[in-house]
Amino acid sequence: MKNDPPAKLDSSKIRADFPIFKRLIRGKPLIYLDNPATTQHPQCVIDAISNFYSQHNANIRRATHLLSYEATQLYEEAHKKVAAFIGADNWHEIVFTRNATEALNLIAYAWGYWNLQEGDEILLTIMEHHSNIVPWQMLQNMKGIKLKYAMTTPEGRLDMDDFRRQLTSKVKLVSINHASNVLGTINPVKEMVLLAKNINAVTIIDGAQSVPHIPVNVKEIGCDFMAVSGHKMLGPTGSGFLYGKKKLMEKMHPFLYGGDMIDEVTLHNATWNELPWKYEAGTPAIADAIGLGAAIDYLSALGMENIMHYEQELNRYCLEQLQQIPDITIHGPLSTHDRLGVFTFNLNGISSHEVANLLDTYGIAVRSGNHCAQPLANHLHMGDTLRIGFYIYNTRKEIDVMIEILKKALALF
Ligand SMILES: Cc1ncc(COP(=O)(O)O)c(C=O)c1O
Repeated sequence: MKNDPPAKLDSSKIRADFPIFKRLIRGKPLIYLDNPATTQHPQCVIDAISNFYSQHNANIRRATHLLSYEATQLYEEAHKKVAAFIGADNWHEIVFTRNATEALNLIAYAWGYWNLQEGDEILLTIMEHHSNIVPWQMLQNMKGIKLKYAMTTPEGRLDMDDFRRQLTSKVKLVSINHASNVLGTINPVKEMVLLAKNINAVTIIDGAQSVPHIPVNVKEIGCDFMAVSGHKMLGPTGSGFLYGKKKLMEKMHPFLYGGDMIDEVTLHNATWNELPWKYEAGTPAIADAIGLGAAIDYLSALGMENIMHYEQELNRYCLEQLQQIPDITIHGPLSTHDRLGVFTFNLNGISSHEVANLLDTYGIAVRSGNHCAQPLANHLHMGDTLRIGFYIYNTRKEIDVMIEILKKALALF
C-alpha cells in the first residue's frame, strides 16, 4: 500500500448511484460517516431486491415450477459471487447468515461446542468486536475452556510478541479481527494464521471491516473460517456470510436444525444435506442474498484495489486535518499505510454524544460510544469516543465540513 497509484474512483459518479444522497437531512446534504456500522445502497442493489420480489419470488429448491427454479438459480448465483469475491475454492464453502455475528455463533455452536474440551484455550485479541468475544464466553461457561487475549501496543497495533507468547499448545482456536472497527488497525492475519497453524489451531478471521474495503483472499490468508457482514459492503441489512473450508464444514455438526438442512428424516434420526445447505436451515433470506450479490457486482466493477487506494487518500487527508485540531485525542495508529479509513477520537473534555448530536444537526452521521468493543475501550482507557469511517461515496469536501463542525464544537462547549 506504500506507493499508491492515484485513486481511480469518481466519487460524484458513484454518489449519483445512491438514492439516499438525494435526501436532505435536517435541511442539509447527507454526510454519511457511520459506514463501519452499516453502509448505504446503490440503486442496483435496491433494484435486484425489488426485481426478485416482483419477478422471481418463490421458495428455493423445493418445487419444480419455473419461479422456484429461477429463485434457486439466483440464490445459488449469489453464493458463487461471494465465493469468487473472497477467492474461495468452491461456492459450497459459502453459507449465508444474517450478519457476521451469526456466522461467528455458527462456528461456536457447530465447531466449538463439539470440539473443545475443558482446559482448551481460545486466543483472541483485545481489539475484537463483542460478536467475536461473547460467543466464546458462552463456550467458556458451558465447556470450561479458557479465553485469552493478545494485547495492543500503546499506539494501537497488535502486539505480535504478546500474540506469539500466548500461542501455546493448549490453544485450539484462534479468532482474530482482520481490521479493527475502532482503531482502524489492519492486523497481519496471514502471519497470524501461519503461526496458529504451527500449533494446529483452527483459525477464524473476522472480516467484517476488511472485506468491504480492501482486496481479501481467503486462500492467501489460509484461514479455516471467515465471518463477514454483507450490510457493511452495500448489501442489504440481514445479509452476511460465513466462509469455511469444505473439509471442516463437512465434518462439523449443523448449527440450526429443521427443514432444508436435512437429507433424510426418520422418526428418531436425520442425516444432513450437502454443503452449504447443511448450515442454511429453513427458508433463507433469498432476496437479501441476491441483493448482496448485486452489491458484489458493483464493488467488483469499481475494483477493490481502486477502492482501497481511494479510501487511502481520504485517510491521509482526514488524518492531516484531524491532527490540526487542538484538543483532540486520536486513538489508533497515526499512520495511513496499515489502517483503514476508520478514525476514533475525542475532543478533550467534551462528551462524544454531544458532539455527535451537534454533527447530526448539520446532517453528518457519525457514531459515538464504545463501538461494541468495551474490552478495548477499557484497555486503552478511551471512554466514550466519536467514530467516523469512510466508504466509496465519501469525499474530501465532506471531511472539510465535518472538521469545521468539530472546531465549532470546541468553541461551543
Ligand atoms: C469487526 C466487526 N466484527 C463483527 C461485527 C458484527 O457485525 P454484524 O453486526 O453484521 O453482525 C462488526 C460490526 O460492527 C465489526 O465491526
